[in-house]
Amino acid sequence: MMKTISILNSKGGVGKSTISVHLGHALALAGKRTLIVDTDMQDNIRIWFSSEQRRTTLFEVLMEGRRPGDAVVNVRERLDIISSGGDSLGAVPFLLNMGFLFSDLSGSDATELKRILHKIGLQWLFDLKNTSPDVLKTSLDSFKNVYDYVLIDCSPSRTILHTIVMVASDYIMVPVSMEWLSVVGSAQVGSAIAEVNEKYDISVDVGFVVPTFFDRRRNRVCQEVMADLAKMYGEKVTNEIRINGRLSEAPSWGKTVFDLKDRRGIEDFEALAKRVMGVE
Ligand SMILES: Nc1ncnc2c1ncn2[C@@H]1O[C@H](COP(=O)(O)OP(=O)(O)OP(=O)(O)O)[C@@H](O)[C@H]1O
Ligand SMILES: [Mg+2]
Repeated sequence: MMKTISILNSKGGVGKSTISVHLGHALALAGKRTLIVDTDMQDNIRIWFSSEQRRTTLFEVLMEGRRPGDAVVNVRERLDIISSGGDSLGAVPFLLNMGFLFSDLSGSDATELKRILHKIGLQWLFDLKNTSPDVLKTSLDSFKNVYDYVLIDCSPSRTILHTIVMVASDYIMVPVSMEWLSVVGSAQVGSAIAEVNEKYDISVDVGFVVPTFFDRRRNRVCQEVMADLAKMYGEKVTNEIRINGRLSEAPSWGKTVFDLKDRRGIEDFEALAKRVMGVE
């Protein structure tokens, strides 16, 4: 059965996109059909794989109701991506909020608002295709016989996009770099999940907490953060992704550590993929 895992932390620069790319490639190399969906306007996933910008991206899928299959680009054997659409995706939180708002209006309120919007040329806001928090989930459901894993890369900004991502997820994976504010970000994700679960009567949960930028030379801070994570998340804490110069160079070459045959990187992400596949 297809599993959807979102990579989320409200702290920026903790390794979300790096994990999306490498866990994706690791799963594909392990024989799993994998799709990476980019929900961040930084467009990092497409750029990492040096792939062309398609006419159909996540933006068109979410806002124009385009077929999700039209947005898929193959980047490696068994590994596909859907790019975010870059800057245009920045408008999505606003548009979704409007859509959700209007779908709740009825009767004379709706008629009146429609009249006013028409007057100022904004009647199209009423015609937005997607006005439900399960807009992403519905799109991804169409892939249930196509992929084993869908990984969703998220932006650090806490917008309504996080809500539609959570509604679409089986599990959330939270990367935590070896800094206190990153631990705080993970706790913020926890409370956001609790809110969304309550509001939409679903039960998505943190499945994996991944220590990133792990550096044995920074012994004290690493030990402190690891102790906090063990206390907060227990068994959910996975193997560490070590600090690795190859991981910061790789995107400029359009390559992953698997392409580069970087032993440390390969070890770390193979271990993470095994953990995810539950065959440790
Ligand atoms: N383990 C690592 N060792 C060394 N560099 C890393 C490691 N993981 C990620 N990086 C580098 O750190 C930077 C930030 O990583 P990344 O883009 O994955 O973070 P992010 O959480 O997706 O950031 P954002 O919140 O902006 O989306 C990138 O330049 C990446 O190449
Ligand atoms: Mg990122």
